[in-house]
Amino acid sequence: MKPVRWPFKSQSPAVRALGPRTRGLVQTGVGAWRGEGLTDFHMATRLFEEKEHASSYQKYRFSPAQEIQDMIFSYLHEKLNKPYELAVDVGCGTGLSTKILSPHFKKVLGIDISKAQIEEAKNAVKFPNTIFRVSPAEEVPVDDASVDLLTACAAVHWFDIEKLLTEVDRILKPGGCLAFYTYTLNMELHYKYRSEQLTKLFLEVKDFLTNYQNEKMHHVQTGYKEIFDCIPYTDKLRFLDIMEVSSSETEVELWCKHVVLLASKPKY
Ligand SMILES: C[S@@+](CC[C@H](N)C(=O)[O-])C[C@H]1O[C@@H](n2cnc3c(N)ncnc32)[C@H](O)[C@@H]1O
Repeated sequence: MKPVRWPFKSQSPAVRALGPRTRGLVQTGVGAWRGEGLTDFHMATRLFEEKEHASSYQKYRFSPAQEIQDMIFSYLHEKLNKPYELAVDVGCGTGLSTKILSPHFKKVLGIDISKAQIEEAKNAVKFPNTIFRVSPAEEVPVDDASVDLLTACAAVHWFDIEKLLTEVDRILKPGGCLAFYTYTLNMELHYKYRSEQLTKLFLEVKDFLTNYQNEKMHHVQTGYKEIFDCIPYTDKLRFLDIMEVSSSETEVELWCKHVVLLASKPKY
């Protein structure tokens, strides 16, 4: 694979609502691995390719919470001195998780396997230092030891983890960091005095849909524990370490928007 030279020349055609307080474990494994015994670690999963899927992502998904951004950048600051040269966001989708990197780096590259997602990202994110390319996360088109920070937001569980971690180790500079993070579906909805009812309904629907979810979602449900264990670096942190708590039941607040549809069949 040809590395991308700066300025990158892309040859490739290559649940919103402020209010609900979301309770969940959002986790950052910072620090690549060994996937023995984990069958799905060798398998990438592609579910997000369609144009319509990409445009609803752009419309309804929420950006990474400020607290998570702060956590990632302060960890990076501990490990590497500024100025930062290059960040890569893998599985970037429509660029929501990429654009948070743009103010901090000379160059930012967002990659995604889906052409439709990359087209949305190119339209939505216009920072001059930020480009998007269609590329698998397992083959990042950059030079060896060139990346200060690699991020994957709500994405790493879909990749071939073993290949990804090998690739991450190839492209990170010494001292460079990775951040794998995601929201979870342990959410509470808050709206005026209806919060309890909304949350109950949300959880009922979520529990029903869980019967049909892709098996890779178990990584999210278990707080990325297996993925964390596979990162081969000794200097690594999970969300709980950063919070200085031991219980995965510890609550954090994440604010996000939701859409609710209600309907009633006419009585007459
Ligand atoms: C849940 S979305 C997250 C998008 C974005 N990071 C965000 O937070 O809005 C997961 C993304 O990973 C991408 N993806 C899945 N498998 C991939 C792979 N092997 N290589 C690169 N991207 C992949 C999908 O196309 C999708 O855009």
